[in-house]
Amino acid sequence: MAWSGARQAVSARGIAKSFGRQRALDGLWLEIPSGLTYCLLGPNGSGKTTFIRAVVGLLHLDGGDLQVLGQPVGEVARLYSRIGYMTQHKALYPDLTVEENMEFYAGLYGLTRKEREERMEELLRMVGLFNHRGRLAAALSGGMYQRLSLACTLIHQPELLLLDEPTVGVDPRLRQTFWEYFNRMAEEGKTVLITTHLMDEAEKCQRVGYMRAGKMAAEGSPEEILDQAGLQPILKLWLADPKEDAALLARQGYPAAVKDGAVLIKLEARSQVKEILGLVEPLDMRLVEPRLEEAFLLLAEDR
Ligand SMILES: Nc1ncnc2c1ncn2[C@@H]1O[C@H](COP(=O)(O)OP(=O)(O)OP(=O)(O)O)[C@@H](O)[C@H]1O
Ligand SMILES: [Mg+2]
Repeated sequence: MAWSGARQAVSARGIAKSFGRQRALDGLWLEIPSGLTYCLLGPNGSGKTTFIRAVVGLLHLDGGDLQVLGQPVGEVARLYSRIGYMTQHKALYPDLTVEENMEFYAGLYGLTRKEREERMEELLRMVGLFNHRGRLAAALSGGMYQRLSLACTLIHQPELLLLDEPTVGVDPRLRQTFWEYFNRMAEEGKTVLITTHLMDEAEKCQRVGYMRAGKMAAEGSPEEILDQAGLQPILKLWLADPKEDAALLARQGYPAAVKDGAVLIKLEARSQVKEILGLVEPLDMRLVEPRLEEAFLLLAEDR
C-alpha cells in the first residue's frame, strides 16, 4: 500500500471499548498517515466520537494498542499543545464574548500577546466573526457557535486536528472556506481528521474510513471505496433503436440494459467509451459517475 512507511499521526491496532453491554469500539484497526485530510464516516452510534475521544486520551480502553503522534495514548496529555480537538457538543463559555472565549483558549496554550492578537484576528476573519467579536457566545446562532468553536480549536496551530462534525449548521459558503483551510493545513504537513455525515465533504478528503458497529467497514481514497463497493461509472446512451443496439452491444461483450428508452452500460474502464462509440451512433449520451453515497449505502447493508 502506498501509505506504508509513512509516518502515522494515529495508529489504532485492535482497540476496544464497551459501555456496559454496548460495544462502541469492537477491535478497531485504523492507521491515519500524517499530512492529509481524513474523513471518518458511519451511521449514528457506529463509534466515531468514541474513537476521537480515545485518541484524545479521554477513555480507558478495554484492549488494543493506540499511538498518537508516535506516542502511546497514555502519554497523550503531554501532546496537548500539538493537538486540537473540537467536540460534537457545546464546549464554549456562554457568558464570555467571542473574543474572550478565544483569549481563554489562547491563554491555556500559553500564546504570547503578539501571537494571540495575530492568530485571533486571522481566525476571526476566517470564520467570519470578526465583526461579532464582542457578542456573547450565548447569543450566537448555531452555525456561528460552531464557527467560534473551530476558531478556538485552531488558536494554537495544532499539527493534529480532531474535528467531530465541525460543519454542522454552517452555511455552504463558509463550509467552503473551512475546507480550503483544512486542505491548506494538510499541505503544510498537518493532519486533519474529520467526522461528517455529508458525502460531498467526504469526497473532498484524501482518505475516507467508513465505520460500522465499532469497526472499519471500508477504508481508502474515495476512488478505492467506490471500487470496494463494486461501483462503476455507467454510460447512458440515447439511440434511434435502443433494443437492437443493446443487443448488438451485448454481442460485442458490453452488457447493456434498456431503461426508460435509454441504453445503460456498466463500464469496467473509462476507455470503453471510445470503443462503444465505434459500435453505435448515439443521438445523445451521458456518463453517470458513481457517488460515494451509493457506495456507503451498499457497504452499510449487512453482507
Ligand atoms: N459515555 C457513554 N456511555 C454509554 N454509552 C455510550 C457512551 N458514549 C458512547 N456510547 C455508545 O457507544 C456507541 C457509539 O457512540 P458514538 O458516540 O461513538 O457514535 P458516533 O458514530 O459518534 O455517532 P453519531 O454519528 O450519532 O455522532 C453508541 O451506541 C453510544 O450510545
Ligand atoms: Mg458522534
